[in-house]
Amino acid sequence: MPDDALIVLTGDKGGVGKSTIAVLVTEWLISIGVKVKLIDADPNQTIQTWVDKCHELGYQVNYPDASVTVIDTPGTVGSSLNKYILRAEIILIPFQPHVADLEVVVGWFLSVKESLQSRVVFVPNRLSRTIEQRDGMKELEAVIAEEGRGTLINGLSNRPAVYPPLLNGRSENFFNSSQSKKILMDTQPLFREISNRLKGLEQ
Ligand SMILES: Nc1ncnc2c1ncn2[C@@H]1O[C@H](COP(=O)(O)OP(=O)(O)OP(=O)(O)O)[C@@H](O)[C@H]1O
Ligand SMILES: [Mg+2]
Repeated sequence: MPDDALIVLTGDKGGVGKSTIAVLVTEWLISIGVKVKLIDADPNQTIQTWVDKCHELGYQVNYPDASVTVIDTPGTVGSSLNKYILRAEIILIPFQPHVADLEVVVGWFLSVKESLQSRVVFVPNRLSRTIEQRDGMKELEAVIAEEGRGTLINGLSNRPAVYPPLLNGRSENFFNSSQSKKILMDTQPLFREISNRLKGLEQ
């Protein structure tokens, strides 16, 4: 693992899973023995609330001396947020692949410079395999192919019984629980992508 890698969750659509995926990535990194520092740059403080609840339950999820920092942001605008995005080695953009939502996501992606585009990983979320979602994925695939930068991974399914409770706070790592097996298939492409990018930073 690199010494001080930065992973930022961002994107200008609200409610698409930024905080949920910040928690999932944190839990996964902790489960493979990586210390994580969490920064909540979103005024809604979803991540800070989660950190506080976990600590109250005796589960440490936030280490000041960590090798990977995960930052949850409300979006791409604002100078302090851009500071995080500009510095991040991995920029995760969760989205729901509706054509209407994609306008915002694609518009931002096309507006930033190439070096930043290369660090973007699009994470489709709440997939239910509808025709509309498939069309959205195809649209984004075409944009990425045209730009020659950025990555679109296989996304997370819509699992209302599994993902919402994640934000409640826990007394132990999520990947210790039997419930987590259900989501390993969902999350494997995301974790593999992050792992490959982190390994790439070591060289
Ligand atoms: N894959 C999923 N399946 C089912 N529910 C999900 C999934 N991903 C996220 N959710 C739920 O969707 C809601 C929004 O997710 P979350 O809070 O992570 O989004 P966000 O982008 O951080 O939102 P905000 O813009 O408010 O910060 C939450 O209730 C969360 O539990
Ligand atoms: Mg959030």
